[in-house]
Amino acid sequence: MIRFEHVTKRYADGTTAVDDLSFEVAEGELVTLVGPSGCGKTTTMKMVNRLIEPTEGGIFLDGDDISTIDPVRLRRRIGYVIQQVGLFPHRTVLENTATVPHLLGWKRGKGRERAAELLDLVGLDPSVYGDRYPEQLSGGQRQRVGVARALAADPPVLLMDEPFGAVDPVVRERLQNEFLKLQAQVRKTVLFVTHDIEEAVRLGDRIAVYGQGRIEQFDSPATVLGAPATPYVADFVGADRGLKRLSVTPIEESDLDQPPVVHLDDPLAAATERLRAEGARWAVVLDGRDNLHGWIPADATAATAKGTVREHARRMESWLPLGAPLKQAFATMLQHDAGWIAVIDKESEGRFLGVLTPARLHEALRRSIDADAQDVPRAEVAVETVASITTA
Ligand SMILES: Nc1ncnc2c1ncn2[C@@H]1O[C@H](COP(=O)(O)OP(=O)(O)OP(=O)(O)O)[C@@H](O)[C@H]1O
Ligand SMILES: [Mg+2]
Repeated sequence: MIRFEHVTKRYADGTTAVDDLSFEVAEGELVTLVGPSGCGKTTTMKMVNRLIEPTEGGIFLDGDDISTIDPVRLRRRIGYVIQQVGLFPHRTVLENTATVPHLLGWKRGKGRERAAELLDLVGLDPSVYGDRYPEQLSGGQRQRVGVARALAADPPVLLMDEPFGAVDPVVRERLQNEFLKLQAQVRKTVLFVTHDIEEAVRLGDRIAVYGQGRIEQFDSPATVLGAPATPYVADFVGADRGLKRLSVTPIEESDLDQPPVVHLDDPLAAATERLRAEGARWAVVLDGRDNLHGWIPADATAATAKGTVREHARRMESWLPLGAPLKQAFATMLQHDAGWIAVIDKESEGRFLGVLTPARLHEALRRSIDADAQDVPRAEVAVETVASITTA
């Protein structure tokens, strides 16, 4: 969708902001560009919507060489959320959001209708916020308006330059989550600039880690964290990359232990005897379709007790679907002070698959890091970028 071929940008004063960049961003892919201040991220973005022209090399959008496309037409295909939001202070939220439709010559009513729809989409009730001015919004709300405005003309490509940079970490995380949900719906091709590795890992399908004007590594978040291609990248992602990696490593079926299992309608005496024989202190309780019901402690039962497991089963406080990130499992264990977490198959409406224990969680993390360290060759960096529109 977006392709950079040997792109170099030298400014008039001789600064090489971007040096021989080549990469590709697939349609519907979200690529984060991450790196320290001044490494060329904004320059990369602005070349996509021709706010800046490259000194050498070519940029292609959907196969078209963008240097042959009229910049105004080009920008219609590209939504642009700029660093520091950049809302027009003397225009209302609704007018700000309708900027692009307005520039495109849409009828006023249609533009406002679309703007209202988008404000709704980013979680701002247009009847409450539509007539306010930017200064009457919180930082997070302003950022949301910036995103709504970029989506107004429904461009296939979105360039986002530190769109959540100006808000505190809590609001930022909320905006990130909202944006991920939104992206799952609208599936734009996105280039997303940030200097925050956590944000890059969280949002990116792939991450381009920038050094000075160059991409040091272009890979999935798991690979960047698990197998940094260079010492620079290792340093940049940080010593706690193992922890960060928890959030991008999914629980797999082979990570699970199989604990003793009893069924709701099993006679209690028989269940108790089995647990004793196996030396187990608890068992997972399943219903007739092998779906997770809860658990039962061995000492809650007595060999002489009458009835079935059903009367003594306890509710399961927490469980996770297969494929959930290890970080979620870890957090759940801490939250419930639990020694294990039940894992179910979401596809089959909750069939019980096994339990994850702290020891197995650690193994899973270890294995996923080792696998990458062995298999992943130093990336032949093919970069990918997105395009954008300017709205002002
Ligand atoms: N118009 C310009 N003339 C000369 N040098 C420039 C110009 N614009 C940017 N630069 C330089 O190019 C380099 C890359 O700038 P760029 O804005 O792309 O960085 P960035 O990665 O977006 O940084 P930040 O995270 O601070 O936004 C920097 O060294 C910057 O000083
Ligand atoms: Mg920048």
